Amino acid sequence: MLKGRSLLEPMDFTTSELEELFQLADKIIECPQKYTKACEGKLMATLFYEPSTRTRFSFEAAMLRLGGQVIGFSEPNSSSVAKGESISDTIRTVACYVDLAVMRHPKEGAPKVAHLSTDMPVINAGDGGHQHPTQTLTDLLTIKKEKGHFDNLTVGLCGDLKFGRTVHSLIKALSRYNNIKFILISPEELRLPNYVIKEVLIKNNIEFKEVQKMEEVIHDLDILYMTRVQRERFFNEEDYIRLKDRYILDLEKMRLAREDMIVLHPLPRVNEIAVEVDSDPRALYFKQAKYGMFIRMALIMSVLGVTC
Ligand code: CP
Repeated sequence: MLKGRSLLEPMDFTTSELEELFQLADKIIECPQKYTKACEGKLMATLFYEPSTRTRFSFEAAMLRLGGQVIGFSEPNSSSVAKGESISDTIRTVACYVDLAVMRHPKEGAPKVAHLSTDMPVINAGDGGHQHPTQTLTDLLTIKKEKGHFDNLTVGLCGDLKFGRTVHSLIKALSRYNNIKFILISPEELRLPNYVIKEVLIKNNIEFKEVQKMEEVIHDLDILYMTRVQRERFFNEEDYIRLKDRYILDLEKMRLAREDMIVLHPLPRVNEIAVEVDSDPRALYFKQAKYGMFIRMALIMSVLGVTC
C-alpha cells in the first residue's frame, strides 16, 4: 500500500509496489477519461527551489488531469523562503493547506527534511546531484513499455555520471532486476561516484565497465541513456566548457547501434543529442517525457489512496 507514503529515493518502493504503479499507469494510458475525477477535492503543492520544465509541468498536468488542483511556486523568492524561512517551517505550513507536496531543491536531502517535518506525503522531484526518483519511475515505465522487461538488459549511461542524479537513481532501481549490465561512458572527471560503484554495483555483484568512447560500445547496448553535462553543479566554468561537448550522439553513431536499441534522455538536452537523431524511431526521449505524466498520475493516486 502506497497510501500516505513519501517517495524520497527509488528504493523506497519495492519492485512489487512499482509493478502496481506500472499497472495503474497502463490503465490510465488506455482510458484516461475514466480518471478525470479521481482526485476531485484534492490539492497538491509544487515547491520548486530549482528550475524545471518536465517534472513540474508533468506533476501539475497529472493532478489537473485527475480532477485535482495545484498551488505552489517555481521561484522560491516569490515565497517566504526569501525571508529566510526553513524547509521545515515551509512544509509544516504548506501541510495545513494541501494533501501532497512535490519538492525540488538544490540541496541534497532537502525533501527528506521536509518529509521528517510532516505526516503529509512528500515527493522528491530532484535534490541536488543526489536522486530523482520520479524520473526513475518515468524511465522504468518507458523501458517496460518499449522493451517489455527489465531483466537481461545492457544499459549504457553516457555523459555526466558524476552529477547526474537521474543516473544515480536509475542504476539503483535497475540493480534489483536480474542480469542487468551497465556500461558507464564518461570522461574521467565525470565518472560515476565511488559510493554508487561500491554500494550499488559491487555490493550487488552487478556487471559493469567504465569506458570513455561511445563508439566502442554502442553496438552492445539495449538502451543508451544520454545525459546533459550539468553546468549548474560545476564549480569552475572552464571545466564545464572543456567537458560539455565531449559526447554528441549523431546519426553516424546511431548507424553503429542495433536496430532495437532505444535512446533515452531525461531532458533537457543541450548538445549531447544532435537534432537529426530525433526522427530516428529509436529516439524515445519525448515519448519518455509523456510517460512521465502518466506514471505521476499513478503515483499521485496511489499516495493519496484514491481509487477509480
Ligand atoms: N527530467 C527533468 O527533471 O527535467 P526538468 O528539469 O525539466 O524537470
